[in-house]
Amino acid sequence: MTAPRKLFIKTYGCQMNVYDSERMAEALGASGYVTTERADDADMILLNTCHIREKAAEKVYSELGRLRPLKEANPDLKIGVAGCVAQAEGEEIMRRAPVVDLVVGPQTYHRLPELEAAARAGARPVDTEFPEEDKFEHLPRAPRATRGATAFLTVQEGCDKFCAFCVVPYTRGAEVSRPAERLLREARDLVDRGVREITLLGQNVNGYHGEGPDGRIWSLARLIEALAEIDGLWRIRYTTSHPNDMTDDLIAAHGAIDKLMPYLHLPVQSGSDRILKAMNRKHTAEAYLRLIERLRAARPDLALSGDFIVGFPGEDDADFEATLTLVRAVGYHSAFTFKYSARPGTPAAERPVLPDAILDERLYRLQALITRQQRAAQEAMIGREVGVLLEKPGRLPGQMVGKSDHLHAVHVTGEGLQPGMLIRARITASAPNSLAAVPL
Ligand code: SAH
Ligand code: SF4
Ligand code: F3S
Repeated sequence: MTAPRKLFIKTYGCQMNVYDSERMAEALGASGYVTTERADDADMILLNTCHIREKAAEKVYSELGRLRPLKEANPDLKIGVAGCVAQAEGEEIMRRAPVVDLVVGPQTYHRLPELEAAARAGARPVDTEFPEEDKFEHLPRAPRATRGATAFLTVQEGCDKFCAFCVVPYTRGAEVSRPAERLLREARDLVDRGVREITLLGQNVNGYHGEGPDGRIWSLARLIEALAEIDGLWRIRYTTSHPNDMTDDLIAAHGAIDKLMPYLHLPVQSGSDRILKAMNRKHTAEAYLRLIERLRAARPDLALSGDFIVGFPGEDDADFEATLTLVRAVGYHSAFTFKYSARPGTPAAERPVLPDAILDERLYRLQALITRQQRAAQEAMIGREVGVLLEKPGRLPGQMVGKSDHLHAVHVTGEGLQPGMLIRARITASAPNSLAAVPL
């Protein structure tokens, strides 16, 4: 028997890329590959890339430059570019980076075995189609190895929202929801392998509308309800949502389903109606705030997080102040803040960009406000009793790291703690990005 070939995957971007990287490893598993943590002993290196901001896309080319010596040392090494940069730039990657042997977009990675064989035969295949067939149905069944306590599960992919700044509708394509029966099967399989918490993924996950086993169209709330019936699955989360798809049944689910964790990532991008309109978000700041009120009525301890873009073309001081006002009104547990980055092919890229110094200053002020809120939210947890799902050992003896119900990273110190345990713990202290706790 020949030794298996080794595959190294480097993942950039969002959680869906993390999920996709696992699927790519499984697809190439069928061609005899096993994964390695080291690029320098790999027979194949895949970069699973992100195109969301200019810096993210540029990272790919600098990484390819760094890989060149490996390729010179081992002519049998094959290098592939996958993910959203692959989708957006396709052939251009082959022109710019001669070290690349294959390019595969997010919708065709089930074809990796054939692409890999073609690359081994000396072709430089590029596959960035949006195929008719469902890639998930063409992937080999995963080997039944045990897994960690948490896992991602893609339930919906693509986006039809076309926010004026965003590449995702172009790189991931139109919204597609996977049938509920297959998701329930995949979830049960994960639970059999030791998974206790599943995060449902979609670019617009709350827009989920998949075929149900009863022949009806299921909403995300209906899917969560069915998942909550799986014994051994203790926690359910979902991300990322658009405010306009936050339906009544989903809001109600936050109050009714215990396994649905009290945490919601609900990006709003800006607090200015003028900018929201220019961004094509199709909602106002007021509508977002009313929605938050309804969510908190259903689940009073709901922890909120969001995404914000500063310096969208045309954003003036008053627009930016409106964003600060919205953030003060909501009180986030955490939030991601980004400087606007003009992306080729998006409508906003036609508009003049603001000076970088203004973007820097706004980013700094917004981050300072959000950091204060995050600290206050964490400090408010001190003395409280929370559920913690333990994930892995911490750095200190007897210490374990896990996540609270509200998705805080928690360091728990105590005896007999094991990964995969869901414990009750009391929060004792707050550090910049985590909490400390003792088991009860
Ligand atoms: N709904 C998507 C959003 C992906 S992008 C999802 O699956 O998560 C994540 C965040 O990146 C967006 O919410 C937005 O705040 C930010 N973003 C997207 N395009 C951007 C751009 N051109 N410049 C700066 N930030 C951007
Ligand atoms: Fe991008 Fe907007 Fe779609 Fe999110 S909802 S993926 S920000 S276009
Ligand atoms: Fe990036 Fe593509 Fe995700 S652009 S954020 S990897 S959907």
